[in-house]
Formats: sequence, structure tokens, C-alpha cells
Amino acid sequence: MEFFLPCLLLSLGLHLASIPMSNSELLYLGFTGTNITVEETASITSSGLLELTNGTVISKGHAFYPSPLHFLNSANGKVKSFSTTFVFGILSSYPSLTQHGLVFVVAPTKNFSTALSNQYLGLTNSSSNNDPTNHLFAIELDTIENVEFRDIDANHVGIDINSLISIQSHHAGYYDDTSGRFQSLDLHSGEAMQVWVDYSGEAEQINVTMAPLEIEKPSRPLISTTYDLSTVIQEPSYIGFSSSTGSVDSRHYVLGWSFNMDGPAPKIDMAKLPKLPPMGKKRQSKLLDIILPITTAASIIVVGTGIILLIRRRLRYTELKEDWEVEFGPHRISYKDLYHATDGFQNKNLLGAGGFGKVYKGVLPPSKLEVAVKRVSHESRQGMKEFIAEVVSIGRIRHRHLVQLLGYCRRKGELLLVYDYMPNGSLDKYLYCEENKPTLNWDQRFRIIKGIASGLLYLHERWDKVVIHRDIKASNVLLDNEMNGRLGDFGLARLYDHGSDLQTTHVVGTIGYLAPELISTGKASPLTDVFAFGRFLLEVTCGQRPLSVSADDNQELLVDRVLEHWRKGSLTEAVDTRLHGDYDVDEYLDRELPLPELTHTDMSFSILTLMQDEGFDPYKLSSSIISASSSGISNGR
Ligand SMILES: Nc1ncnc2c1ncn2[C@@H]1O[C@H](COP(=O)(O)OP(=O)(O)OP(=O)(O)O)[C@@H](O)[C@H]1O
Ligand SMILES: *[C@@H]1O[C@H](CO)[C@@H](O)[C@H](O)[C@H]1NC(C)=O
Ligand SMILES: *[C@@H]1O[C@H](CO)[C@@H](O)[C@H](O)[C@H]1NC(C)=O
Ligand SMILES: *[C@@H]1O[C@H](CO)[C@@H](O)[C@H](O)[C@H]1NC(C)=O
Ligand SMILES: *[C@@H]1O[C@H](CO)[C@@H](O)[C@H](O)[C@H]1NC(C)=O
Ligand SMILES: *[C@@H]1O[C@H](CO)[C@@H](O)[C@H](O)[C@H]1NC(C)=O
Repeated sequence: MEFFLPCLLLSLGLHLASIPMSNSELLYLGFTGTNITVEETASITSSGLLELTNGTVISKGHAFYPSPLHFLNSANGKVKSFSTTFVFGILSSYPSLTQHGLVFVVAPTKNFSTALSNQYLGLTNSSSNNDPTNHLFAIELDTIENVEFRDIDANHVGIDINSLISIQSHHAGYYDDTSGRFQSLDLHSGEAMQVWVDYSGEAEQINVTMAPLEIEKPSRPLISTTYDLSTVIQEPSYIGFSSSTGSVDSRHYVLGWSFNMDGPAPKIDMAKLPKLPPMGKKRQSKLLDIILPITTAASIIVVGTGIILLIRRRLRYTELKEDWEVEFGPHRISYKDLYHATDGFQNKNLLGAGGFGKVYKGVLPPSKLEVAVKRVSHESRQGMKEFIAEVVSIGRIRHRHLVQLLGYCRRKGELLLVYDYMPNGSLDKYLYCEENKPTLNWDQRFRIIKGIASGLLYLHERWDKVVIHRDIKASNVLLDNEMNGRLGDFGLARLYDHGSDLQTTHVVGTIGYLAPELISTGKASPLTDVFAFGRFLLEVTCGQRPLSVSADDNQELLVDRVLEHWRKGSLTEAVDTRLHGDYDVDEYLDRELPLPELTHTDMSFSILTLMQDEGFDPYKLSSSIISASSSGISNGR
């Protein structure tokens, strides 16, 4: 009747962690929620393992069934037969090295506070070891060979009576039932193993058997000895486990446990046991100590470069947009589009470089429209709003002799202007025989001059507001596919008018084209544009740069040279020799106005001296050219 209930419970398949059998029968399938008394480092893990030691070095841990058991047969005062089995596991961070061991113990007390760790396995101390008053019966699973306790090796099972000097011990393992051969087991393999301890009160025999989990209890015990435990075990006594560590950070676990007085210990269902943590978890972490920093560093580098690439990708296309630009929105072209249009502003797409920046050829993605993108580096925000407003207003100008401005884009310290692409490049290349361009005949030149004149007139008078070009010169005259001259680059000089750069505050434009009054007043007007146009006329007619510096470092203005010829009556000698005289000497624009008559006084001065009078130092001219061009003003080539 006493065994009916537990059998019923078992047959019902109830697998509570602790199944209350009879008052002498226990079964633990894991220890979650059980009433086990744990001391020192012992605890029950979240997965239900009974962890006796937790890896702390030189520590001990104990776990006991809370209530004492009655071992004595009241009839004869002898210790009853009992049987226990448990599944254990020993782990450490080092392969095949754990300290010190685990014991199953029957003791008159649960209080082992005076016991020692290390080789004492948390059972005794140096003075109490081998003391008959200990009343200890223990089965040790020892992973250290301790000479003091006459251990046989560092991987043995022993029967201990009051002392850690085992009365009998054996190398850990089992006798295979079929072959009968001994199979060694490694206590610190990190594998869970099962141990059976059987005591026969009648035979006064102790059998200790062990096996791997997958093997049924071997019929031949590992150790079998006769010993009358009645001389050892007191009434009442506690049953439980003790473990100790030494200098190796070992962990000792019990996964499941059953006990029975006067009968076989209930079978442990391995499938219901909690799992041991993987062996070398700590060892792995030691390995990880090396691998982790490397992998972490590697992944940081990978992630970092990824982020940097992303950021660079982002930055690559980052634009600068200010609130006031909203109204100009339609005229903005995204930097990404420009970047792709010019293949990332590659040098192969470079059309040329001027004083304001480099010009690239591009093809705008959706429309396949050919464009010229001018990158103007511009740090100052001053005047930017006015400039953009002008750019946008100029962008509305459609004139066949003006280069169409399509839109703009702003980035930090940079302004990008997008123009219609002019397939035949700039006029200066033809005039000064650069890039193997053919010379232009007079008809072509005349057409260009007239075209530019009408373009300039439109800017000055026909457009709803007066736009001053400020930088009329051959290099700013571009030729479309019909070799029509188109005036480009308008308004850019204005940007530098507002610039904070002292060198460019007043004189902006190209030296050699600058009107004398512009040098003195610094004020651009339609008239200063007309002056520059006159110079441009001479430039086209004479095929000469407006300012030439001879080998002996003498500067000569083209205007002065022409005036000189005028004075000497040899004006045609100033005409470009490459025209081979093939031109109409009397031809002058639309002939709406007669040629101005130059008076004698007009002929007596040179523009250079006039400019000198206005404060322009000819001896500083060369250096002005350099400083001016480095600050955004190009010299007249
Ligand atoms: N819309 C365009 N289409 C084709 N080529 C162009 C266009 N705009 C400029 N270029 C080319 O790029 C070169 C540089 O132009 P840019 O206007 O920057 O220099 P510049 O006129 O010589 O000097 P500055 O900066 O003083 O005006 C020109 O000489 C021309 O060959
Ligand atoms: C081990 O147990 C002791 C005592 O409970 C505790 O102080 C220590 O922090 C534990 N160590 C680890 C690694 O859990
Ligand atoms: C736990 O064990 C103690 C001591 O034997 C006992 O007093 C207590 O009632 C038990 N508690 C449970 C929940 O079993
Ligand atoms: C264990 O015994 C020691 C003395 O040996 C005592 O100080 C301590 O309080 C006891 N601990 C418990 C939990 O009873
Ligand atoms: C050794 O253990 C015994 C019994 O538990 C105890 O009485 C004694 O005080 C302990 N000795 C030391 C030195 O701790
Ligand atoms: C111990 O093992 C021997 C050999 O298998 C067996 O005959 C004996 O009954 C066992 N004793 C106990 C107490 O299990």
C-alpha cells in the first residue's frame, strides 16, 4: 500500500521535479522548485540543474534533502538497505582538468561550514578528517590525485568512511555487460554520467556502479565492498551532495537524483533531465578572449567602413539648401544627378578650367541633355542670395546669343552652374590656335561679333532688368554647333563683387578688359561692359590677347597697339595676319552709326597710362595678374 501511490503517480506519467514517493523514496528530475537545501556556492540554476560549485576557485557547495532520513532498522538497530542513483556532470574552462570533485554523502548534519574546499571536497578539514565522530559515508568522484589521501589517480571513484582516504576506489568507468571489459570514463569530460550506490543491510555490502547516460545500469558494479555502515551512519542522517574547487574554476552539477530506502532507487528518465551547459563554455570564453576582440575589431572595421561608405555616399551627394532657396526650387538640379551626369566629375569630362573653377561636360540622366557643369568654389555666403536670384532670373533668359543657364546646385563651399553644352567650345581656342582649332575666317568672326553684340544688347536693354555681364572676353564666348557666338558666364563676376576677399572687392573682371573707370570706382555698369566688348572686338579682329607680356617683361595692351597703328595710319596692320587680308575694311557692325572720329588728343594717350592715372600700377601688373587670377579673376590670356 505504501508503494501504491508512487507507482500510480509514475504510471500516470507525472513528472514533477520532485515526486513525493513514500517517506523514504525520492525522485528529482531536475531541481526546479524543489525544497533542496543549498549552501555556499550551491544553487539551482534557471534550467533546473543543481549547481554545487559555480566556477569560483577554492570554494565549496552543499545540497541536502531538507529532512533527515531514518536509516536504522528499529528491529535490529542496523542500517537498512538503501539505494540511490544520480546523474552528474563536471565542467571547467580547461580541457580534462577540473578540481576537485563531487561526493554523494550521508551525514548527521547539513552544516559543513567548518569543512574545507580543495582535496577535502567540502566534507572534512585537516583535523576532522578520519575522525570516527564524523559519521560520514560518502562516494567520491575525485578528479585530482591527492597523495595525502592516497588517491589512486586523478579520475577515480571511491568509497569514503569518515575520511577522504577511500576504503576502496577505482578508476572511473564501467564494466560492459556484453563484453565484460572495463570501459574507462572521464569524470571531467563535461558529459553527464550516472552513478548508482547500493547498500545491502543484510549483506553489509556496498556496490558503486557508473555508466554513461545511454547505457543501462551495468550488472557488474565498478566497486563492490563489504562494510557495515551501522558503525558509521547515525540516526537521523541527511543525504545530499558536496563539492569543492581548487585553483581551477570547475563547476559541479547534479541533473537528477533518486533515493529509496529498502528498495531500488527509482529509475531516472534521462529525457526529462535538464541539459548540462556545453563543455568548454568557459574555455570557449577563454578562446573568445582572443577571438572575440579580433572578430569584434574585424566587425567594427567592417561595420565602420560600411558606415563610412554610407556616410561618404551620403556626403558625396550632400547639398546645401537654405530657406530662401525654396522659391528657386525648380531651378535646382540635384548634385546626385550632376554627379552621375559627369561620371563623378572625372577628368575625362573636363572641358576646361577658368578663374572661377572647372567646367565639366555631362549628360543629364533623364533627358539625355548635354550640359556643361561649372563648379565654382565659393566659401562666402554673402551675396549668395542675390547671386542665385540673378542666376535664376538669367536662367529665364532665352536668347540665341546667350548660353542658356539651366539651373544650379549648391554644396558646402561650392556652387554648381549648369549650362547648355556648346559643342564647339570657346572662341579663344580658335583665336589663339589652341587645341589645333582652325582659324576662323572673317565672315565667321563677324557673325560672332554681331551675335555677341546682340546678346549683350539684350542683357543691357531688352531684358526686363539690366544685367551687367562684367566679364566679356573671348573665352566667355562659346560657339554652338552652327558656330554662332554665344555669351556665357554672365553674372559670375558679381558673385566676387560681394566676396569678402579684399583682393577682389573692387576690381573684378579680367585685366586687359577692364575699363579705366572700373579700376578707379570699382563700379560695373553697362558702359564698362561696352568697353570690354570693344576690347573683345579688337581681340577677334587682331587675333591677339588684350594684354601681352613680351619677353623683356614689357606689358602691352592690345588697345594701345591698335591706337598706335591708328595714329600711324597703319590700322590694317593690326588685323590678324591669319585672315590673309580676306576681309572688308569698311565693315562695321550694322553700320547704324558712323565710325567715331578720334581727335588728336584722343590719339595722344595710351590706355595703360590712363589706367595708371586711375591708380593702376603697371609695374605691379604681372603680380596683379597672378594674385587676381588666384583669387578668382582670370587673366586675359
Ligand atoms: N557651356 C559650355 N559648353 C562647352 N564648353 C564650355 C562651356 N562653358 C565653358 N566651357 C569650356 O570650359 C572652359 C572653362 O570655362 P570658364 O568659363 O570656367 O573659363 P574662362 O571663361 O576661360 O575663365 P573665367 O572663369 O574667367 O570666365 C572654357 O574655356 C570652355 O572651353
Ligand atoms: C558563486 O557563488 C558565490 C556564493 O553564492 C557567489 O558569491 C559568486 O558570485 C558566484 N559566482 C558566480 C560566477 O556565479
Ligand atoms: C521544505 O523542507 C523543510 C524542512 O524539511 C520543511 O519544513 C518544509 O515544509 C518543506 N517545504 C516544502 C515546500 O516542501
Ligand atoms: C553551522 O555551524 C557553525 C558552527 O560550527 C555555526 O556557526 C553556524 O551558524 C551553523 N550554520 C547553520 C546554518 O546552522
Ligand atoms: C574541523 O571540523 C570539525 C568538525 O566539523 C570542527 O569541529 C573543527 O572546528 C574544524 N576545524 C577547523 C580548524 O576548522
Ligand atoms: C553488488 O553486485 C553484485 C554483483 O553484481 C551482486 O551480486 C550484489 O547483489 C550487489 N549488491 C547490491 C547491494 O546491490
